[in-house]
Amino acid sequence: MSEEIKIVSVIGAGYLGKQIAERSALKEYTIRLYDTNVEDLEKFSSKLKRSNKTPEKITSHDTIEGAVKDADLIIEAVPELLDLKREIFKVIDEAAQPNAIIATNSSSIPVSKLEDVVARKDKLLNIHFYNLVTMPMADIMRGTKTSDETFEKGKKWVESIDITPLIVKKECYGFVFNRVWRAIKKESMKIWAGGYADLEEVDKAWRIFTGMEIGPFQFMDQIGLDVIYDIEMSYYKKSGLEDDKPPQALKDMVDKGNLGQKTKKGFYTY
Ligand SMILES: NC(=O)c1ccc[n+]([C@@H]2O[C@H](COP(=O)([O-])OP(=O)(O)OC[C@H]3O[C@@H](n4cnc5c(N)ncnc54)[C@H](O)[C@@H]3O)[C@@H](O)[C@H]2O)c1
Repeated sequence: MSEEIKIVSVIGAGYLGKQIAERSALKEYTIRLYDTNVEDLEKFSSKLKRSNKTPEKITSHDTIEGAVKDADLIIEAVPELLDLKREIFKVIDEAAQPNAIIATNSSSIPVSKLEDVVARKDKLLNIHFYNLVTMPMADIMRGTKTSDETFEKGKKWVESIDITPLIVKKECYGFVFNRVWRAIKKESMKIWAGGYADLEEVDKAWRIFTGMEIGPFQFMDQIGLDVIYDIEMSYYKKSGLEDDKPPQALKDMVDKGNLGQKTKKGFYTY
């Protein structure tokens, strides 16, 4: 357990928030949970208590204020909407004790975009988790005023729950690994959509090169092609460069409802 952080509050206990809470509870942190979906929150909280050695350390709350007031670290994992995150950061900042660190698990919003709604500008972080079970790593990125102390505390906490921190040295869209993965996706799709090679060849090469069991197209089918398309569009909108525009062939698949494994058809048929 990290020395400075004892109480972790998770605001938004959805797909990622649940994993963050589970992993922290496993390491016997005190967990405070808040989510607007009360029914799901209660179900999850009961399950977490049943499966932990220290159930008395897990509580769910019906207000953000109640969930954060004694926390040392607050992780926000609500949907990817800037206005919602800004609203929630403001409420957290007003209710939390002055030393508490507030981190966002956002996939794309730098915490600098949330700074102006809080007083504690030195205690903000991006802590961007991937799937905690299959990809135990997290990008850590500062806002423009984040202190070294905050950064160190956040990094130590990430390590304490057996997740490898990826240090982002300056604000970067896509953090560390999302950006690398993005380049792989983009080039793989260009080879396929440009008719230079079949997608099976790209996947084959990737499997041989990395020793992994699946290639980029198989992985994109797992994630969902609608999700992939939205992410690629967000990079395109950010740069405005034609080269960043996802191929029309991907859009056509999404429009037809061929979204990958979840619809049994994507780049491959399942
Ligand atoms: N899904 C992923 O693979 C992934 C990976 C890394 C980061 N993220 C990021 O994590 C965040 C959450 O994503 P997710 O996939 O867990 O989404 P999700 O939809 O599964 O979970 C979001 C949760 O927030 C709750 N919520 C909605 N409005 C709320 C509010 N006002 N207050 C409190 N809770 C509220 C919802 O009920 C839901 O349980 C996003 O910022 C996303 O970009 C997701």
